[in-house]
Amino acid sequence: MAQLENNTIMTGKKPITQITRDVLENHYEMREKCSRPENDDLFVATYSHDADSNNTGCSSCDRSQLVTRIPRNTEDPHVHYGAIASGNQVIKDAPTRDRLAEELGGILCFEMEAAGLMDQFPCLVIRGISDYCDSHKHEQWQGYAALAAAAYARALLSVGPIRASTKNEKTDPIWMVPFPRNLKFVGRQDQLTEVEALLSMDSGSRKIAITGLGGVGKTQVALELAYRRRGTCSIFWISSVSQESVQQGYMGIAERLKLGDVDPMNVKQQVKSHLSHRNAGKWLLVCDNADDIDMWISKERTALESFLPQSDLGHVIFTTRNRQVAQRLAPSHTIPIEEMDQHTATQILTQSLPPGLFHDRCPSPLRFFSNWPSSRWQSHKRQHILRITASLSQIIYHL
Ligand SMILES: Nc1ncnc2c1ncn2[C@@H]1O[C@H](COP(=O)(O)OP(=O)(O)OP(=O)(O)O)[C@@H](O)[C@H]1O
Ligand SMILES: [Mg+2]
Repeated sequence: MAQLENNTIMTGKKPITQITRDVLENHYEMREKCSRPENDDLFVATYSHDADSNNTGCSSCDRSQLVTRIPRNTEDPHVHYGAIASGNQVIKDAPTRDRLAEELGGILCFEMEAAGLMDQFPCLVIRGISDYCDSHKHEQWQGYAALAAAAYARALLSVGPIRASTKNEKTDPIWMVPFPRNLKFVGRQDQLTEVEALLSMDSGSRKIAITGLGGVGKTQVALELAYRRRGTCSIFWISSVSQESVQQGYMGIAERLKLGDVDPMNVKQQVKSHLSHRNAGKWLLVCDNADDIDMWISKERTALESFLPQSDLGHVIFTTRNRQVAQRLAPSHTIPIEEMDQHTATQILTQSLPPGLFHDRCPSPLRFFSNWPSSRWQSHKRQHILRITASLSQIIYHL
């Protein structure tokens, strides 16, 4: 729309005027119904149509009740941008019109068809305004208003790529998780059940934080949840270690959502708007490693919290080491992940060792390593530690 406006300003060409003229010139059968009428009468709101008049127009209405307006210096159609009220009955009463307009906080016009459409798919509604929603007669403007609206639609279609919203886009869940499933995932059943219960609730806060020490297994829990919900909703994953990785994440989501005309400066807002609309369907957004509170919460307009989508159909899961982040972003649903109990840690360690190396008789040295937070033995030293552990367990087992 902005492009269409710009083109008009820059070139001085008025595509809508041109299209309406061309249509009327080339299609004589439309001239009678769609030409611009002469009279444009607006009566004051308190003056109703003369009901006794037996003609179709307002020739019997009191012309002293007309609103005095400065005539436009052109007869070209004028485009208004703003909210349209959609209702289930025609408004034909000026005081009702004015009351509703005030209650709804300023609207351009009333109509009766678009409300149902907008619930089904994202769309732009273009209407030709043919009357003043009062009791007076304006039928002669209907054809011209319809032509002007059609001309605008045609001019709009000619300036930019229009992406058709297909059924598939709406219903096929998108899968955007950058890690494979951890087939050796163990434990954390209570936390998984708790988060799954929150995800299946229809009401309440849509934000959940999984929090705990570094390496304790937060990302693993989020990953397992994502795989458990795969296919039931779109799942997006943003690595939140830095502003750059978040920006990249949003760009990736915009691409998968096939948002047209993605502007890197504005992509977070574009993704937020899209996912906040019901038409985006069900979704889950994982913001992994959201540890930096300044990135998420601040008075700056760039604070990431303000770019989180909100929808009854969507949930956001944060994983964070930072309890403050958890409590600020998801105050009612913070799920702590404690360090592993010995049984779980031993299970992970067993699975990481070559088959047959671990045995119940393995005594304390192996238990010592298995109790370490996994990040420690996940580091570059992990293989080394595992090798020592394996050797120890072998030695001890064969003693
Ligand atoms: N439940 C689990 N089952 C199997 N392995 C696990 C589990 N939890 C953690 N691990 C192991 O520990 C490693 C670290 O876990 P994870 O990356 O989830 O920790 P984190 O809490 O997200 O750490 P950070 O705070 O550094 O992001 C994993 O790569 C995995 O090898
Ligand atoms: Mg993590």
